[in-house]
Amino acid sequence: MKIAARLSAVLSLVVSLAGGAWAADSPTTGLANLDCVKCHAKPTADIAAAGGAHKTSVSCLDCHIGHPPAVKNPIPKCSMCHSDKPHYKLAACLSCHKNPHRPKDISFGRNVTEPCLSCHSGQIKQLKENRSKHSALNCSFCHDVHGKIPQCTQCHKPHSSDMTAADCKNCHKAHMPTVVAYGSTLPNKDCAGCHKNAMSLLLANKSKHSTLLCVKCHQNKHKMVPKCQDCHGAPHPAGLLAKFPKCQECHNIAHDLNNWTKAAAPAKAVKAKKAAVKKH
Ligand code: HEC
Ligand code: HEC
Ligand code: HEC
Ligand code: HEC
Ligand code: HEC
Ligand code: HEC
Ligand code: HEC
Ligand code: HEC
Ligand code: HEC
Ligand code: HEC
Ligand code: HEC
Ligand code: HEC
Repeated sequence: MKIAARLSAVLSLVVSLAGGAWAADSPTTGLANLDCVKCHAKPTADIAAAGGAHKTSVSCLDCHIGHPPAVKNPIPKCSMCHSDKPHYKLAACLSCHKNPHRPKDISFGRNVTEPCLSCHSGQIKQLKENRSKHSALNCSFCHDVHGKIPQCTQCHKPHSSDMTAADCKNCHKAHMPTVVAYGSTLPNKDCAGCHKNAMSLLLANKSKHSTLLCVKCHQNKHKMVPKCQDCHGAPHPAGLLAKFPKCQECHNIAHDLNNWTKAAAPAKAVKAKKAAVKKH
């Protein structure tokens, strides 16, 4: 009894020294914030450890107005203090903010989309405007912990064994994965995983094309095919080009340019075409 009385005296001293919200006695119960810990150790410890603004901006009694038995249900609604943003119109605040005494500990299942949109709008736009199988997934199917960015390789195999998780973003964006686009320095190996033929032809060819990056010619967007003239303009007299409109007739395809001594090229045709070039 003696100890309890002294404790209570010390407590009320602490209360009066503490000042601010934490010092206020509840008018209805006579309880002070510092009393709560005596019977409610866990909420107090949670707030102390991770209360965030619920520790610094409000006190127990700001939220819990009254106490049983006088007040039967002293649990506040979040909307008592949070009401002015779209996010605060969501249902079931505690489905994500599982513990109001640790408000920044947030967790949710893998089937959440709508609530994310109260703060993030760009991603859903991309997903809707570029329909893919990702558009049918929930946001939290991939982002199962708030703020976590998953790696593509968690769910998909790379196209080749020398491709790493970091390479995916060279060509894909998560919220529009079927729009394949890339920069001007992408290494040939990233294309070669799916185009072995093109790669090996180009490597074996001894022309100056073989030193070029795939993306020097196939620029920016997958399946873009350049025209020879885009880079070479009109390399021969107009008459010749009118007669032989296809560069490939003489030069063969870009990956496998003829060098004119090659046995594979029918010697006669080459000769005739060479002669035609000379004439002009
Ligand atoms: C002397 C012990 C004691 C003190 C001090 C005390 N409480 Fe309680 N509290 C209880 C008990 C016992 C209950 C359960 C009452 C019931 O269910 O009828 C309770 C219930 C509650 C509830 C309702 C819980 C529920 O599940 O509905 C809240 C909220 C609460 N207390 C908050 C506080 C706050 C805030 C303080 C400090 C201002 C405080 N209590 C101080 C003993 C105490
Ligand atoms: C920002 C408002 C807020 C503050 C501040 C707050 N609480 Fe709570 N508290 C709640 C809400 C909301 C619930 C109901 C949680 C639920 O339903 O899961 C709750 C539940 C409780 C409960 C009953 C359930 C449990 O966890 O035991 C107690 C007891 C309690 N609080 C005590 C406290 C004490 C003590 C403090 C101060 C140290 C405090 N609360 C500070 C909002 C608050
Ligand atoms: C008595 C008023 C009050 C109640 C009730 C209340 N809050 Fe708060 N809460 C605040 C204040 C004040 C802040 C700090 C300013 C702000 O962010 O609006 C805050 C901040 C927060 C934060 C940010 C925490 C941080 O450290 O940045 C979250 C999350 C939060 N509240 C969630 C909730 C949820 C969920 C509920 C209901 C379970 C709730 N609040 C109930 C007053 C309250
Ligand atoms: C689907 C999960 C989810 C639900 C449901 C949810 N929140 Fe949040 N809340 C979050 C996330 C995620 C954040 C962002 C935390 C951050 O900034 O890192 C957040 C942040 C907050 C913040 C602080 C930042 C801000 O924008 O004000 C408050 C306050 C808050 N929520 C209150 C609420 C209230 C009130 C409700 C119910 C009306 C609610 N939340 C429902 C997930 C949720
Ligand atoms: C209350 C507002 C709020 C809600 C609700 C919210 N977020 Fe956030 N989110 C934020 C803030 C604030 C940040 C940190 C600031 C930033 O990096 O943009 C963030 C960061 C992120 C990041 C990391 C961004 C980066 O650049 O690293 C991802 C991913 C994310 N949120 C996904 C989600 C998903 C998925 C949901 C729904 C389950 C969600 N958020 C719900 C406010 C929110
Ligand atoms: C298929 C998995 C997946 C889905 C579904 C998904 N994301 Fe992402 N998200 C990612 C990945 C991976 C990144 C990293 C950036 C990238 O690779 O394009 C990311 C990045 C983000 C970022 C960081 C900023 C940015 O845009 O790069 C936010 C915020 C975000 N996502 C929110 C969302 C929201 C909100 C949804 C639902 C509307 C969603 N995500 C759906 C995988 C996904
Ligand atoms: C959490 C798992 C997950 C993550 C992370 C993820 N995906 Fe997916 N992705 C899927 C699922 C599920 C499908 C649909 C598979 C199916 O139906 O065959 C899919 C489908 C795809 C498709 C085919 C789309 C279509 O419409 O045909 C592409 C491309 C794709 N993902 C690329 C990526 C890339 C790139 C990343 C990283 C930025 C990534 N994914 C991250 C789960 C994921
Ligand atoms: C050089 C560009 C490039 C890179 C780098 C790349 N992809 Fe792709 N990816 C593509 C192209 C192009 C397609 C479409 C093929 C088609 O039309 O069938 C594709 C298709 C996909 C698909 C759809 C299913 C399939 O296999 O056809 C998935 C899943 C995928 N990529 C995942 C990944 C992952 C994971 C990474 C990183 C490890 C990655 N991609 C890196 C270009 C790339
Ligand atoms: C995931 C496998 C994959 C990757 C990686 C990939 N492609 Fe493709 N690519 C394909 C498929 C599948 C086709 C369609 C083949 C068909 O229609 O016969 C294609 C077609 C093409 C075409 C032909 C378009 C047409 O109209 O005939 C070009 C050019 C092309 N890819 C270039 C590239 C380049 C350059 C890269 C590297 C930046 C690349 N691809 C990376 C799978 C891929
Ligand atoms: C994106 C630009 C680009 C495209 C498209 C392109 N080339 Fe070239 N080509 C080059 C470059 C760069 C060189 C090397 C020039 C140099 O080093 O003098 C070259 C060299 C050549 C050469 C000389 C080869 C040698 O080894 O001396 C021929 C012939 C040629 N190109 C024909 C073609 C034909 C035919 C096409 C279409 C099937 C074509 N090019 C498409 C950029 C291109
Ligand atoms: C009738 C055959 C023929 C046609 C059609 C033709 N070329 Fe040529 N081209 C030649 C010959 C022959 C040479 C000279 C080879 C040599 O001197 O080694 C040549 C040389 C070139 C060179 C190399 C010039 C240099 O300075 O090294 C380029 C580049 C070139 N052609 C591009 C083109 C392009 C682009 C087209 C289509 C617009 C085209 N050619 C159409 C036969 C042809
Ligand atoms: C000098 C420019 C140039 C370079 C470098 C180049 N391509 Fe091509 N590619 C073309 C042109 C032009 C065509 C259309 C066929 C033709 O006329 O030669 C083509 C056709 C293709 C095609 C469709 C036809 C086929 O062969 O399957 C694919 C796929 C392709 N390229 C992939 C690649 C890849 C992968 C690389 C790098 C390893 C590459 N290309 C390097 C210019 C180039």
